[in-house]
Amino acid sequence: MSQSKVVIIGTGFVGMSYAYALLNQGTVEEIVLIDIDQRKAEGEAMDLNHGLAFAPRKMSIKSGTYEDCKDAGLVVITAGVNQKDGETRIDLLNRNAKIMQSVVGEVMKSGFDGIILVATNPVDILTYVVWKASGLPSSRVIGSGTSLDTARLRYEISQYIHIDVRNIHAYILGEHGDSEFVCWSNANVGGKPFKDVIESMPNHIKFSDLDAIYKDVKNAAYDIISRKRATYYGIGMALVRITSAIFNNENRILPISVYNDGVYDIEKDLYIGLPAVLNKNGVDHVVRLNLDSEETTNLKKSANILKTNINSMNF
Ligand code: LAC
Repeated sequence: MSQSKVVIIGTGFVGMSYAYALLNQGTVEEIVLIDIDQRKAEGEAMDLNHGLAFAPRKMSIKSGTYEDCKDAGLVVITAGVNQKDGETRIDLLNRNAKIMQSVVGEVMKSGFDGIILVATNPVDILTYVVWKASGLPSSRVIGSGTSLDTARLRYEISQYIHIDVRNIHAYILGEHGDSEFVCWSNANVGGKPFKDVIESMPNHIKFSDLDAIYKDVKNAAYDIISRKRATYYGIGMALVRITSAIFNNENRILPISVYNDGVYDIEKDLYIGLPAVLNKNGVDHVVRLNLDSEETTNLKKSANILKTNINSMNF
């Protein structure tokens, strides 16, 4: 297996924003682009290759076929329809589930034995679909989960308190969707508990601002889609962060869509956004946070919504 080869399935806005970010950050040695529109994939590879002279490292970029998955360390699935104005992510389920099953069948036919990362929405349910169809261990099938939502939350907080976003530590957990929630009880700024920060900075942020921050994060995709018809830069960079944790064997804790095997007292046999340690082998383990009663209720609610939709698919 090539240790730093990623195959991207789907060369739409998300797939190509991810590929462009990989190129600029020099995260991998090899990128293969697959799309149902082969000439589109060819054109995208040609365009990216013309940037190699400016890239931070030598890379191989080409369009390819599912055969190229055989020795890839990572397959990233971005193919599928995206939300139109006013659509929820779960509205995409039936159309995209069929695409996932078809794609995974082709990937596994190649003899692929690496990690699959799903970005297509509704990502938690589709990651479950991909896991079931792939036959891979649950530790090697993950979804982008609430990694982008968490980045949005950290950005919103940083704007309120004028502290660099990299010093803001807080999670969005649960469904990557309308039932996601903020884990305020574990939030901290440079190690200082967030509730102490609020009390020490009344001129910058008040407890009454927290709900507005949450709503901005939860509705961010809708707000962007209503203006530019899709989101792709943020998710593209979130996918690169996840890719780097894998290929650099980082043991990095990220809020991704992972299989719940009971670490949290919620519905089992589903995928949901939780903090997990990620390395070259996939998910090492899920991090069990101490949630307060409201967060526990929110996580259970989110899990129930995902489980209901999984059950509706008659696996
Ligand atoms: C968003 C898409 C990736 O939240 O679901 O922008």
